[in-house]
Amino acid sequence: MAFDPPNVQDHFEKLSRRWERLYEPGALQTPRIEQFTRILTEKRPAPGNVMDFGCGTGDISEALAGVGYSVIGVDASASMIERTNARASNTLRFQTIPTSKPFRLPFSPETFDAVVASSVLEYVSPLDECFQEIHRVTQRGGLFVFTVPNMAHRTQEKILRPLAKVLNRLSLTKVHPFFEWFEYMELSINRYPLERWQAMLSKAGWTCESAEGADTPLWLISARSQ
Ligand SMILES: C[S@@+](CC[C@H](N)C(=O)[O-])C[C@H]1O[C@@H](n2cnc3c(N)ncnc32)[C@H](O)[C@@H]1O
Repeated sequence: MAFDPPNVQDHFEKLSRRWERLYEPGALQTPRIEQFTRILTEKRPAPGNVMDFGCGTGDISEALAGVGYSVIGVDASASMIERTNARASNTLRFQTIPTSKPFRLPFSPETFDAVVASSVLEYVSPLDECFQEIHRVTQRGGLFVFTVPNMAHRTQEKILRPLAKVLNRLSLTKVHPFFEWFEYMELSINRYPLERWQAMLSKAGWTCESAEGADTPLWLISARSQ
């Protein structure tokens, strides 16, 4: 039987069943709610229209709506979006968006005052088109805040990444969900030094304003649309 390599959409369809658990008290993703809320309220205070690109189960979108923004969460995974239904309100909507080449967002120019993307851009290709599209749908002077892996604090991945492709071809996720980490290693392709993220932003019309997390496995980057 032919082997189907892992793909981003299938990977997150699977993870959608338990994604919210990562936002339970003390869980891995929970600090992001405070991080995104803090940086957005500091740099682009509410009210305003915000897109949460790659919103997953909508945990960050909901927090931003809770502090006064009008938020739309968009995601390529229909299962993730299905799980956001209970959160929707007058100021919080969710929508599945198709992945397309060239990369295209289904919004008019300058629709948003700010865009957030928590751990999404490492999966997106081509990244330069994504940065340009997010720039197109953001108001001039608007804000873009995102997290991406900080490779200086992921030294073990240098060894494990090359292994991931091999292990994925053994269909180990059929044995145990633990092996999904190796799918993540193969699919999370955009793993660059900070300077490269800054250069790509600049090329797409953004000015990088801050980069937090030098001592952590995650960069939290903010950029302003020019
Ligand atoms: C690691 S999860 C992060 C979810 C959410 N932002 C969070 O931090 O909880 C990455 C999400 O990005 C979505 N995604 C990946 N590529 C995408 C694309 N091209 N367009 C829209 N969503 C995408 C996935 O479906 C997944 O829900």
